[in-house]
This record gives sequence, C-alpha cells and structure tokens, in this order.
Amino acid sequence: MNHESQNPRPRGGAPLDVGSVDPDLRRAGTLDPALHFDPAAHARVLERVFVPSWQLLPVPEPGHVVEPFTLLDGGLDEPLVWIRDGGDERVLSNVCTHRGALLATCASNGKALRCAYHGRRFGLEGKMEACPGFDGALDFPRPEDDLAAVELRALGPLRFLSLSSGMAFDEWSRPLRVALAEFEGETFSFAPEASRAYDLDASWAVYCENYLEGFHIPFVHPGLNAGLDFGKYRVEIEGQTVNQLGFGSKGERCLRREEGLVAEYLWLYPNLMVNVYSWGISVNLVEPTGPGRCRVRYLRWVARPSLVETGVGSGLDQVELEDQAVVHSVQQGVRSRLYPGGRFSPEHEAGPHHFQRLLAADLSS
Ligand code: FES
Ligand SMILES: [Fe+2]
Repeated sequence: MNHESQNPRPRGGAPLDVGSVDPDLRRAGTLDPALHFDPAAHARVLERVFVPSWQLLPVPEPGHVVEPFTLLDGGLDEPLVWIRDGGDERVLSNVCTHRGALLATCASNGKALRCAYHGRRFGLEGKMEACPGFDGALDFPRPEDDLAAVELRALGPLRFLSLSSGMAFDEWSRPLRVALAEFEGETFSFAPEASRAYDLDASWAVYCENYLEGFHIPFVHPGLNAGLDFGKYRVEIEGQTVNQLGFGSKGERCLRREEGLVAEYLWLYPNLMVNVYSWGISVNLVEPTGPGRCRVRYLRWVARPSLVETGVGSGLDQVELEDQAVVHSVQQGVRSRLYPGGRFSPEHEAGPHHFQRLLAADLSS
C-alpha cells in the first residue's frame, strides 16, 4: 500500500506549484488538484495562460459602431471597446489615457470617444484629438496618450482578440479553419434564441477536461451515445488544439470531411470549444470567474437551418446539463483532502492529458 497517498494533503501556505505532467500518457498523473480551487493558482493561470491567449470576442454579433465590453468579465476584467467604422473594425482599450476613467459606457453610433471625467476626446481609430487643460504640458502628447489597440482577427463568423498574443493566430486556429471549410461559400446567422450563459461552481479547467474526453459519453449521455458509433470515436491532437471526431450510428447527414463523420468537437487552448454539426456550429466559451468558478457562454451560429435539431446536433441543452452535473461533482471531489490526483486512461484521455501538459508548460514558464 502506498501510505503517502493515504495522508491528507496540506492546505494553504506558499503560492502553489501545480507540478508537471509526464509526456507519456501511460505513465502520467494529473496536476495537483488544487489547480482547480487554489486562489494563488487561479491568479497565476489568469496571467500566464489567459493574458497571452487568443480569446473569442464575447460580443457575438454587430450592433453598433461603438460596443464596449469586458474581456473575461470576473477574470481578466479588461475594459475594451469594439469599433466598427465603415468597413474597418478594431478593438481598443476603453480606458482614458489621462487618469484612467472608462470611456464608452454603452453601445452607440457615436463618431468619437469622449471621456466624461475631464473631456479628453479620441477618434474612432484611437488617436487623441482633444485634451482640455493640457496647454503647456511638456513632452506631450506621447504615443501612449492614444488608446492602445488590441490584435483582432476574424475566422468564419467568429472574431478573436489577444492582449499579448503568445502564438501566431494562423497557427493557433489552423484546425478551426479546416473544420469551418465544411461551410465554405455558405452564410452563418447568429441564433440568439439558442444561446445561453451558465454560471457554474466549478473551475474552467474541470469543465475543459470533461469536454476533452469522450470516455464519459456512454455513462453520462445516453441520448447522445445512441447516435454515435463509439467504436469509431477518434481524437486528433495538433499544437494547441484537440479535435474529437464523432461518427454516426444512424445514417444521418454527414460532414464532408470524412465518410460517416457527424460531429467535430474542437477545443482550442485554453478555453474555447467549437462543435461542428451538419447545421452549423455551437460554441462553448468557458470563462474563469474565480477560484473554482466559471461562466460558460453557449453560442450558436446556423448555416443550414433545415438541419437544426436533427441527429447528434440536436438535444444539446440536455447534453449540457448532463455535463454540468458531472463537472459539479468533480469540483466537489477535487477539494477532498483524501484525493491526491489521478491517472489518465491511455485509451480515452489523450485530450485531458494534452490540456494539462499545455497548462503545466505555461504555469512553469
Ligand atoms: S480621466 Fe479622462 S479626461 Fe481625465
Ligand atoms: Fe459530455
């Protein structure tokens, strides 16, 4: 008997080192479960993982010229503004370069951003155009008196941004581009009526790990399982992505990419899931909102309306609730002083293993 694993793990103390993950899946153990609830680990994840990441723009469809939003509300809490100015679009800091007041507070079709505190004004491209009270200021204005711009990229109906991109967008998103080729030449429409947001008492990483394995499908999702040929389920790992390919058991409409393929479950590091079905895509965006807490935004874009609610791309609310129940269960379990961490199934858990390896690399850098 391994007596060490019987001892309760200590809590609190120095900032957490969550450990490393053996590259050999057959030998690897999980990171320290405290990763999922420790405040120091949470703070480190935000800075090391989320600041350099590519994030889905959380405003799903254009509404106004000026759309203020908060990137990772409750996590990074970065105030930004999305500007659509004729054919151009950009994302700028929404923080006045004088003393830091927020600029736009609601969506509008204004022609400038004007600070309500002391009247500084910026053009829609971020250039400071007026600054009352600054006659006589020396070495002014400097480039940093304009609004900082954030890198913005588009792919299909989705837009992405990064505060300090640690990876080239084209490299990071390549598997998504391949998956979206299914709909080449077709038009997506955002479906607000099918979109949801859930606040969960579970870590964003626990949610991702559940998504990254199909191992649980026969146990947790009986309805979904009936539509899938589990023997053909396949996992493809590339760079910062994991793609799970689901093959149908009922002869439903397939994706063009491969005979029998009815769903692609594509995860992009760290927190984005794009599910590709014959009708279009559903997106799960998992946002950390605190140690052991997250928000899941569930967004849908439809390209082929006649196929919605057919095959394995139907009944998704039920599948989501089944997943949330196990995710909540795991979140309670990982806090146990008697749970030392687990092992990965060599047959089924290459996805969670890859995820934890990416996390460990960022957290130790
Ligand atoms: S904080 Fe904006 S003008 Fe002073
Ligand atoms: Fe699931």
